[in-house]
Amino acid sequence: MEAFYLEWANLLFRWLHVITAMAWIGASFYFVFLDSSLEKPQEPNPDRVAGELWAIHGGGFYHARKFMAAPPRVGGFLHWFYIESYFTWISGFLLFSVSYLWSPTAYLIDPSVADLSSGQAIAAALGLLLGFLVVYELICRYAGAPGKGDKAVAFFVAAAVAAGAWLSTELFSGPAAFLITGAMIATVMSANVLLWIIPGQRKMVASLQAGETVDPTPGLIGKQRSVHNTYFTLPVLLAMLSNHYSFLTSSDHRLLFLLGLMLAGALIRYYFVRMHGYKLGRHGHPWAYGVAGLVIVGCLIGYSAVAELEKRQLAQSAATSVSAAVLPLGASGPQGQGITQIQQVMAQHCLQCHGAQVQMKNIRLDSLASIEQHASAIYQQVVVLRAMPLNNATQFTEAERNLVKTWYETRQ
Ligand code: HEC
Repeated sequence: MEAFYLEWANLLFRWLHVITAMAWIGASFYFVFLDSSLEKPQEPNPDRVAGELWAIHGGGFYHARKFMAAPPRVGGFLHWFYIESYFTWISGFLLFSVSYLWSPTAYLIDPSVADLSSGQAIAAALGLLLGFLVVYELICRYAGAPGKGDKAVAFFVAAAVAAGAWLSTELFSGPAAFLITGAMIATVMSANVLLWIIPGQRKMVASLQAGETVDPTPGLIGKQRSVHNTYFTLPVLLAMLSNHYSFLTSSDHRLLFLLGLMLAGALIRYYFVRMHGYKLGRHGHPWAYGVAGLVIVGCLIGYSAVAELEKRQLAQSAATSVSAAVLPLGASGPQGQGITQIQQVMAQHCLQCHGAQVQMKNIRLDSLASIEQHASAIYQQVVVLRAMPLNNATQFTEAERNLVKTWYETRQ
């Protein structure tokens, strides 16, 4: 029953995670738009409003105003924005726990990448999340002051992301490596809210209530972190979603795909942020950033297409030599031989758990038709994720794994 309840937990944590992430990133996109679209007030401005914005939405007009250090007073309920961020992290961590940490041998570890024990893999995953946070904090504190050393900070943070992603692909299974890279950056994003943005704002509110002059420094630090979070959003979403695509995560070039797509995401986000200023005539059209992002994606598609073609040719020739050398005599053609062989392999290694008596996950593999029906899931579990046979309970050999691979890649 454990697997059954884990499935429920997985569904509910994932649901919560997507909801809170939408609320957080939606609010973040809105405030970035607001901030970059503020205009100097036109009318007499006794309250020293720094910028204002007019908008129309939901059948009415809105008039938002921003005060730099402090407004003369806060006239109504003061809304804060942090619950979305905290719950995105908490729900994400719970989801990561039930889907990866709970059964590290099935999902976190790939012995062909690094032969870790369960404990080592869990420690490495958590260590990477914490380690990246520490490195990021050091960079922000020592590489440059907010507003001045932004370029140096951006450079070092990008280098740290690349190093973290590399380490992740050297330690974990393909899907886990992508996910952990995303989680590593997302942890920094939530920590920025928890450790800097909100405490800074609390200080500002406290001095306002005490009638003191408000020190703008915490606001500036908060702003720097908030700008970082903006450029992290699209790369993080990419890393989290792309971990479901085995053509990326199982590729020999997965680090290149991960970094390339994340860079494209950051450039595309920059394009959208600059568009706000362009609309108000502050600078030229930022098309070059958007195009650069799309060109990177285009190059990655082209590169992967070439690799895919080579792989297919290789599989084709391997299939011919396997059926000539290994398969039993008597079957009619290469296709017929491949399937006979595949049935034997399934009977020997899978039927204990996927046969007439026991049907884990409702999957039976005791007929040709059902093997064909589950072909892509079998390929996923056996070749890509190497999660089946579960814990390699039935001592699957590399040769047998290759046989499943060849069977799948050459079937029509
Ligand atoms: C020791 C028992 C055991 C053996 C042996 C085993 N499996 Fe599984 N299999 C499971 C369990 C348990 C699940 C459900 C795992 C989960 O929900 O994460 C599963 C799930 C699957 C799934 C569905 C995965 C998904 O999440 O959609 C496929 C496909 C599969 N197994 C294929 C195979 C193949 C092919 C073999 C033989 C090469 C095999 N299994 C051997 C226990 C086993």
